[in-house]
Amino acid sequence: MSYPFQVRSMEQYEKAYKASVDEPEAFWASVAENFKWRKKWNKVLEWNFTEPKIEWFKGGKLNITENCIDRHLETLGDKPAFIWEPNSPDDRVRVVTYNRLHKRVCQFAQVLKNNGVKKGDRVCIYMGMIPELAYAVLGCARIGAIHSVIFGGFSAQSIADRLDDAKAEYIVTCDGAFRGGKDIPLKSVIDDALIGNKTVKRVIVYTRTRTPVSMIKGRDVWWEDEMEYAETQVEKDGIVSFSAEEMDAEDPLFILYTSGSTGKPKGVVHTCAGYMIWTTYTFVNVFQYKPGDIHFCTADIGWITGHSYIVYGPLSAGATSVMFEGIPTWPDAGRFWDIVDKHKVDILYTAPTAIRSLMGFGLEPLKGKDLSSLKILGTVGEPINEEAWHWYDENVGKKKCPIVDTWWQTETGGTLISNLAGVTPAIPSWASLPLPGVQPLLVDENGKEVLPTPSENGKLIASGNLCIKFPWPGILRTTWGDHERCRQNYFAAYPNLYFTGDGALKDEKGNYRITGRVDDVLNVSGHRIGTAEVENAINMHAGVVESAVVGYPHDIKGQGIYAYVVFGPKHGDEDLTRKDILQTVSRVIGPIAKPDKVQFVPGLPKTRSGKIMRRILRKIAEGEISNLGDTTTLLDPAVVEEIKKGKI
Ligand code: WTA
Repeated sequence: MSYPFQVRSMEQYEKAYKASVDEPEAFWASVAENFKWRKKWNKVLEWNFTEPKIEWFKGGKLNITENCIDRHLETLGDKPAFIWEPNSPDDRVRVVTYNRLHKRVCQFAQVLKNNGVKKGDRVCIYMGMIPELAYAVLGCARIGAIHSVIFGGFSAQSIADRLDDAKAEYIVTCDGAFRGGKDIPLKSVIDDALIGNKTVKRVIVYTRTRTPVSMIKGRDVWWEDEMEYAETQVEKDGIVSFSAEEMDAEDPLFILYTSGSTGKPKGVVHTCAGYMIWTTYTFVNVFQYKPGDIHFCTADIGWITGHSYIVYGPLSAGATSVMFEGIPTWPDAGRFWDIVDKHKVDILYTAPTAIRSLMGFGLEPLKGKDLSSLKILGTVGEPINEEAWHWYDENVGKKKCPIVDTWWQTETGGTLISNLAGVTPAIPSWASLPLPGVQPLLVDENGKEVLPTPSENGKLIASGNLCIKFPWPGILRTTWGDHERCRQNYFAAYPNLYFTGDGALKDEKGNYRITGRVDDVLNVSGHRIGTAEVENAINMHAGVVESAVVGYPHDIKGQGIYAYVVFGPKHGDEDLTRKDILQTVSRVIGPIAKPDKVQFVPGLPKTRSGKIMRRILRKIAEGEISNLGDTTTLLDPAVVEEIKKGKI
C-alpha cells in the first residue's frame, strides 16, 4: 500500500495546505482517487454553514468495508489487521489477518441479515474491547446498517435513552467484559435498559466472560450459534463472500453520542465517504504511517478515537493495529510498556490522563522494558501539560520520538490540528498547525476575528474561541433526528462558522494551543461530560432541591467534577447521603460521571434574574477563594460566604 497523499516535508505540508485552501475541490478529488469507488462522485463539495448542509463526493457510490478490507486482500491478506492483547497478560494473544477479518466481517454481515437487519437500520453495540467488536462495527457497515457504539461505562438508563433517540431495533453485546480486575456484566445492563422497551427486536450476545446471562426467547440469540450458521452461507469451496451494500457517499455510517452544554447527549452523524477519507488522510499524515508499522491506539472503540484510529483509519490504510482489552494499570503500571515490548509497537497513541496516571508510579514499571521499537508518540483528548509531555518524551520516547498532540472532536471525525510526526515542528503543549483542509480562526464573543497582540514575553499571541470557517470531509453532517439541534449547537453561535466549544491561543507562526472548553462541558480523563447532564442526574436524587456542577483542575484526570448540592430535608449521615448521590449519578449516566467532590450548600449564588453564577462556583472549586470578582449582582451574597466555609 502506498500513500500518494502523504506529506513528507515542511515544504510539502505548505504546498498541500495552500492547495487545500486555494482549490479545495481539486485537492480532495486527488486524495479521493486513492480509494475504491463503485461509482465516481458527481460533485466534490456542496456546502453552506447556515442550514448547515455539507455534502462531500455526492453521487459517489462505495462501501467503506471494501476500502478497509477487500482492497487489501490480494497484497496484505496474510498480514495482521489486528493484534489483540487480552486483559490478562496470561491469556492468549489473537492475531486477526486481513483474510480472517474479511471472513468474520462477511459472516457477521450475514448474521445481521439473517436477523432482519437492513440498510439504514440502527444497531446499538455495547461490548468490551475484543475483535468481535470490530467485526460487529464493520459487519454493520458492510450491509449499510448504522452502528451506534456505546462505551461500557454508561448505565442502563443512558443506553435506554440512546436506543430511544436512535430508534435502534438491534443490539450486539457480550455477556460481560474484562477490565482490569473487574468483570463488567454488560448483558445484564442491556437487560435493564430494555425493561419497557418495545422497539428492540433482537439482541446478539457474544460470550466473553462466561457470566450467567438471561436469554429471552424470541429476542436474544447467541453470537456463536449465529456465526456458525452464517459460515455455511458465506463460504463456498473455501471462498468467502458477502457482497457489500452499495452506499451513497453521504449515507450515514454511524451515530456516536456525545455530551454538549445542554440537555441530553446528541447523536453525532458521520457519513461514509467523507469520514473514510478524513480518517485515512489524517492517520497516514499525522502518524507518518509506513507499511509494516505496528500502531497502538489505547482508546476504547466506544469513543470516537477508537472508531477513527483503531478501526476505520488504520484499516483503510492497510495498517496493523494493536487492540487492547485491558487498562494501563492492571495487573501493574507496566502494562503498556509490556505491550510495546511484546508486539514491537512503532506508534503509541494515548491520552494525557493515562500518561499522568502512569507518571505517578515513577520509573520502576518502565525498568527492563524494551521500548526501542517506538518511533512516534501521540496524545489526544485533552490539553497535555508540559510536565506530562516531557515525561512522555524522556521516559517513553527516549527523546527520539516525535510527539504528535492531536486536537479534534467527535464532531470532526478525525484530527484537525496537530503536528505531523517528524515533519512539522512539535511544541510541548501546543497542538500546533492545522492539517491541510482545515481553516481555523479565533473569534471574540461577538464573532469578530481576534488578531494577535503582543504578550508578556513580547511575542504576538491571539486568544479567542476556536472556530473553523470551511468544511473538511470528516465534519459531522447532522445530529440524529434533530438537524436544528446541530445548527444550534455548532453553527448558530457565529454566522458561517463551525464553533468548536474550545478556547485557543495562536502564535505568530500560526500554531494553536488549545486551552480547554469555553462552554459548560467538562473533560474528565479525556471523557466529555456535560455539566447539565450531571446536574440533571443529581437532581433526580430524592431530597436534592437543586445542584450546580463545575470542573476543577485535577492532577491526573485533567478536570475533576465538583458538585454543589442543595439538599432539602435534614439528612442524617452526610457521608452516606453523598454516597447515595454518587450511586444515583452512576445509575442515571454511568460511573464515569460520578462527581469527585460533593459539597452540601444552603443555596446557590444566583443573579436577581435567577441565573446561577457558575463563575463564582468555579473559582471556589479551583481554590481561588479570595478573588471572586464582582458579587454585588447576587441575590444573596451571604450564601457565597457559607459556600466558601464549607469548601472541600
Ligand atoms: C478536547 C476526542 C487539547 C477538546 C478526540 C475537544 C483536546 C474535546 C485535544 C473533544 C488536544 C481533544 N488538546 N484538548 N490535543 N484533543 N481535546 O469529542 O476540548 O471526546 O473539544 O473527542 O476534547 O472530545 P471528544
